[in-house]
Amino acid sequence: MQKILQRLEEQRTAARLGGGQKRIDSQHAKGKLTARERVELFLDPDSFEEWDMFVEHDCTEFGMDKQKIPGDGVVTGYGTVGGRPIFVFSQDFTVFGGSLSKNHAAKICKIMDHAIKVGVPVVGLNDSGGARIQEGVDSLAGYADVFQRNVMASGVVPQISMIMGPCAGGAVYSPSMTDFIFMVRDTSYMFVTGPEVVKTVTHEEVSAEELGGAKTHTHKSGVADLAFDNDVEALFMLRRFINFLPMNNRSKPPLWPTNDPADRKDNSLDTLVPADPNKPYDMKELILKVVDDRNFFELQKDYAANIIIGFGRMQGSTVGLVANQPMVLAGCLDIDSAKKGARFVRFCDAFNIPVITFVDVPGFLPGTSQEYGGIIKHGAKLLYAYAEATIPKITVITRKAYGGAYDVMSSKHLRGDVNLAWPSAEIAVMGPKGAVEIIFRQDMKDQQKVDLRTQEYKDRFANPFVAGARGFVDDVIMPHSTRKRICRSLAMLKDKKLENPWRKHGNIPL
Ligand code: HXC
Repeated sequence: MQKILQRLEEQRTAARLGGGQKRIDSQHAKGKLTARERVELFLDPDSFEEWDMFVEHDCTEFGMDKQKIPGDGVVTGYGTVGGRPIFVFSQDFTVFGGSLSKNHAAKICKIMDHAIKVGVPVVGLNDSGGARIQEGVDSLAGYADVFQRNVMASGVVPQISMIMGPCAGGAVYSPSMTDFIFMVRDTSYMFVTGPEVVKTVTHEEVSAEELGGAKTHTHKSGVADLAFDNDVEALFMLRRFINFLPMNNRSKPPLWPTNDPADRKDNSLDTLVPADPNKPYDMKELILKVVDDRNFFELQKDYAANIIIGFGRMQGSTVGLVANQPMVLAGCLDIDSAKKGARFVRFCDAFNIPVITFVDVPGFLPGTSQEYGGIIKHGAKLLYAYAEATIPKITVITRKAYGGAYDVMSSKHLRGDVNLAWPSAEIAVMGPKGAVEIIFRQDMKDQQKVDLRTQEYKDRFANPFVAGARGFVDDVIMPHSTRKRICRSLAMLKDKKLENPWRKHGNIPL
């Protein structure tokens, strides 16, 4: 017996060493942790249950039969974060560059199948050279097996990807189908084709970092939600992030203790909106002053910053926040912001997270680049997402709610449950200046008449009371009472039940 136990221990030690000390040192020298160190740091201490530690590849090409490393380049299993269960896979770059073999893929598929079955989120810590070149089509098949499971898990359990090394070629499509992608600055990149191929095909010279580094994907492409400075910060923030999420599509968001009173007033909100309607103000101030303990986990903050998205809590329970940002493009909706907002609203809807929407939107961004880029279809994504959502929806209009953008931003007409407006709200087809230029064109040469007409229009429409008189806003509230009014609304909506008609699936304008 003693011998058998000893053998087990030896095999475990060999597996834990991955690709060997030299490669571990090289991983550390790059400022990266190893796959196992990452799992240990991410999960609660001593909670990791590893599976398939002894799985090896079965490739015999190119002398691979003589190079077998237990675990085959990926550490898989489950553990807990903050006491709640989570499945995790962590690719081991020290083993064949973390490349994906058939059996490596099978390990990932196994935990994904279990995660779907038991309703537990899946986190992937990606650090891989892509398809295991020696395996050829077997590796491609393995990727497709993972992709299929990404799709089956979508909307069933949250899926999160942390990119902590290379992620290239078709390999990017597994993370891209997960709900959130985070990256580590300077050590991770994602692209479909690398700098060499780009140079050959388009003659562009670009570094891997410029092409697909964390800055590119958090500022330009919007592929990644956030970037962190190093592995330790990334894993710590990932733990914080997961605390906001429910386990699956049938569970409620987790409760987080707070001493922040539900009826806390904030008098400074009464002066947040400047007297001049063309002056910007920071919508994030409102979010921070409304959520529990000023704790707002913002996503995609450097991409399409004219819309703000992220998670917070109200009376301990997770809410999704969507808000126009008057500081950027005056808060207009454009292609990028509509896509950003829509995907977030759909995530919240899939996982029973109420959405609070703060509105200050002068309309859709005009221009040829927007029209040629397909703003009609992309803008409709946000409209579709809000209209389809059956979760509790609370809307607060702080200032402008003009034109189609008024309808889109969780209006009453898209089944908004509670629609509130501040006294500074202006709900109209367009701003006074544009309106007067169109409907009083004949008076445009006479400045006195223009001023008079503008004032008339302002008095009539630049307020929340016309919408209030029709029941399109449920109440006009004092800004300082916003938190209280939202908390009460959420409590009232706690057991909301609303179902869309049966269908195989809708056809969102993709
Ligand atoms: C097998 C691989 C590998 C791969 C790296 N290695 N990538 N082994 N298959 N795809 C091995 C190397 O041989 C090396 O082994 C070790 O991993 C570390 O690699 P290095 O090159 O020394 O590391 P580094 O200099 O940091 O460069 C990392 C890298 C580079 C940029 C990822 O290795 C690279 O370009 N690899 C190939 C990437 C690629 O073209 N993959 C296929 C993409 S297409 P030793 O024994 O020396 O330590 C794809 C299609 C997916 O993935 C399609 C899905 C539908």
